[in-house]
Amino acid sequence: MAFEFIDQQLAQRQSQSRYRQRVSIAAAAGREVVIAGKSYLNFSSNDYLGLNNHPEINRAMQEGIDRFGLCASGSSLITGFSYAHQVLEQQICQWLNKPRCLLFSSGFAANTGVLQALGQHKCHFLLDKLCHASLIDGALGACDGGKTSGGKASMKRFRHNDIEQLEGFLKCSPGDDNLIVSEGVFSMDGDQAEIKKLSALAKNAKAWLYLDDAHSIGVIGRQGQGSVSQGDVDIVMATFGKAIASSGAFIACDENLFEYLVNFSRHYIYSTAISPAVAWATVKSIELIQKEQWRRDKIAQLSFSLSQALDPRITLAPTESSIHALIIGDEASALAVSEKLKKKGIWLTAIRPPTVPVNSSRLRVTICANHNNNDIKYLAACLNEALG
Ligand SMILES: Cc1ncc(COP(=O)(O)O)c(C=O)c1O
Repeated sequence: MAFEFIDQQLAQRQSQSRYRQRVSIAAAAGREVVIAGKSYLNFSSNDYLGLNNHPEINRAMQEGIDRFGLCASGSSLITGFSYAHQVLEQQICQWLNKPRCLLFSSGFAANTGVLQALGQHKCHFLLDKLCHASLIDGALGACDGGKTSGGKASMKRFRHNDIEQLEGFLKCSPGDDNLIVSEGVFSMDGDQAEIKKLSALAKNAKAWLYLDDAHSIGVIGRQGQGSVSQGDVDIVMATFGKAIASSGAFIACDENLFEYLVNFSRHYIYSTAISPAVAWATVKSIELIQKEQWRRDKIAQLSFSLSQALDPRITLAPTESSIHALIIGDEASALAVSEKLKKKGIWLTAIRPPTVPVNSSRLRVTICANHNNNDIKYLAACLNEALG
């Protein structure tokens, strides 16, 4: 039989309790999801600021459809780049104080698109060990000796947030083009990169700093600016699919890199531009993010309440983000806790290898601005019981 490995691989995943399946969300209203006819309190959502389904964003989406259509009907360099995209790019530049911004169809595409474009020339990518799959794939794809993207880059991964090891790596390639790659907030742990130290190190070594702000944009910093509010960042990537509550992603950078990406990033050049209606709705979402500080304050207040209400044996790592990882250990135990919570009406997906390292299967709790105090008390009581 052809492709026999498919059955073998799936069977192996099953036997390791790592098999993944989708669930179909019948309805999602704010903090709740309806799955198979039952309503659950959702603590696995990336809608950190609670903006999904916001009436003003929905109205902007409709307006965008009426004005530009749902589809861009072309790549950005042909006829896909519309006034809606232009307004969104300009808004992001002003928000983050960056000269230029470029839109991509997803965060995955943006990360791979930038790294593969830079890696067409000899350079060194220095990635935090916990960087997202898209950064790893982007870097690896640029290191393949030219087989697909003309890659001439090299890649090293430093221990998570280990500035000393990173400094040692930088010393191995002085004077070369070094790109430090990390994340504003780490997706599966919720902890933060030390941006001040990273940017000082980058400056000293004449390296560039690239930060993936997927989980910090909107949530961290003044007006939800994310990492740029904490230090000098040369290149920022953030997705619209989390706190911004739409879809697509952007890169914010200087003029030169912008022009280079427009000319050399294959993900940018050979892909349909994001929906102009989505771009128009995203402008509205970012407006709300900038002016509604209460959403960020609420995440901080609810996160504090959770840490207080949990049994003292269950500790939360300090973070300004929405993400709180409760490490369980093996896959089967994490699944069992997730099932127990489901029976109590709480949706909290167990995160298992290969998404996280072996023996660190976990519950990744996300606190969103549309949760309330009672939700948090109930979650804490259920976690205390399930983990006690
Ligand atoms: C850190 C990080 N970067 C990039 C992405 C990819 O973004 P997108 O979902 O827009 O492809 C994700 C997750 O989705 C992420 O968690």
